[in-house]
Amino acid sequence: MAPSTDAPAPLAGRRIVLGVTGGIAAYKSVEIMRRLQDLGAHVSPILTESATKMIGVKTFEALASEPPKTSLYSDSHPSPHTYLGQNADLILVAPATARILSDLRTGRSDDLLSATLLATEAPVVVAPAMHTEMWNHPATTENVSVLRSRGVTVVGPAVGRLAGGDEGPGRLSEPETIVVAVVQRLASDADLAGLKVLISAGGTREALDPVRYLGNRSTGKQGHALAEAAAARGAEVVLITASPLASHSGIGRINVVSAAEMATAVKAEAATSDIVIMAAAVADFRPVSVAEKKLKKADGTPQITLERTEDILAALGQSKRSGQVLVGFAAETNDVSANAKAKLEKKNADLIVANDVSAPGVGFGHETNAVTIHAADGSQTQVALSEKSQIAHAVLDAALARLGSST
Ligand code: CTP
Repeated sequence: MAPSTDAPAPLAGRRIVLGVTGGIAAYKSVEIMRRLQDLGAHVSPILTESATKMIGVKTFEALASEPPKTSLYSDSHPSPHTYLGQNADLILVAPATARILSDLRTGRSDDLLSATLLATEAPVVVAPAMHTEMWNHPATTENVSVLRSRGVTVVGPAVGRLAGGDEGPGRLSEPETIVVAVVQRLASDADLAGLKVLISAGGTREALDPVRYLGNRSTGKQGHALAEAAAARGAEVVLITASPLASHSGIGRINVVSAAEMATAVKAEAATSDIVIMAAAVADFRPVSVAEKKLKKADGTPQITLERTEDILAALGQSKRSGQVLVGFAAETNDVSANAKAKLEKKNADLIVANDVSAPGVGFGHETNAVTIHAADGSQTQVALSEKSQIAHAVLDAALARLGSST
């Protein structure tokens, strides 16, 4: 099956914090959130106290990618502002009142949104909305100019109808304009544009008979997170997966079941790929023969003889062309570092992403992972327990750093 060639979702895998402040245009933030989600983004809303007077928290509870947050103190996380700020790929404040622009300029942080804006290194986009007099006030003019000089993207405001029947500059820009500004701001991070990234994911299944198989605990979450992250960074992505998890239509997806099918599909795509990431849990053994009919109890307990499958990563290591980056995973329960280094050498990989699957919150089925990325030059990068999308970006950073220099 040929991979689909749709353009990748421009915001696939991107985590956007949507700050909503108490302007009359706060209701439009829902439309903005939906559009961001339609483009593949994960949107975490933060509503200020005044925003909750303009729009219901319940609306965001129903529609956001995760529960909306309204306070520094009511979250289960002890430090929601640092958590949100550090994990965001971008923070959008829409609508942004004169108050939040002033707080951002002076570094005041007395509510969750202002504290999150201070606790982030992610790009910030603001879409101001206020009365014309407030927008034209020298204090606001100066605040906006300082924010621009610090790299904040300011969208609008537009000229038009305002609250209370007034007209003039101060109206929130159209949701589409704001979303385009977000996409453009993040597109400057499209560091994988022009590269083909091949990713395998999921656990293969080796048939015993027409209804039974030998499988493993892999869900494919880490591999699919890698595919989304690579697409969001502008790569042409081919995902060869044994997982039923969904993937965005912009990702070229090839479904496989067995190790042999995965080997055929991966080897066909690898030759033209710049980065190959074997995140799949490929079966090491398969039954020598597959029963044509269902094995019946009446026929006695079957004896199953296994044989080795092909080691796809090792085969790719043999045929690796100069400049291509080959990344493997090592799911271990003991001697993690030593096993990872041995695999790096044995399989001629450039990077091995090692995780201790016996640690809490790590590996198969979890939303989170913690890994050490071992490079062929002996360097190591540790990524502490974090969401699989964050791990994905760290793996892509490491692969990109080696591109062109691998042998
Ligand atoms: N892998 C592969 N083909 C296989 C088995 C594994 O390409 N038949 C790849 C995996 O996708 C992963 C890496 O090899 O990137 C390491 O897989 P792992 O199962 O941890 O290691 P093994 O090679 O099976 O070694 P061991 O049995 O010693 O754990």
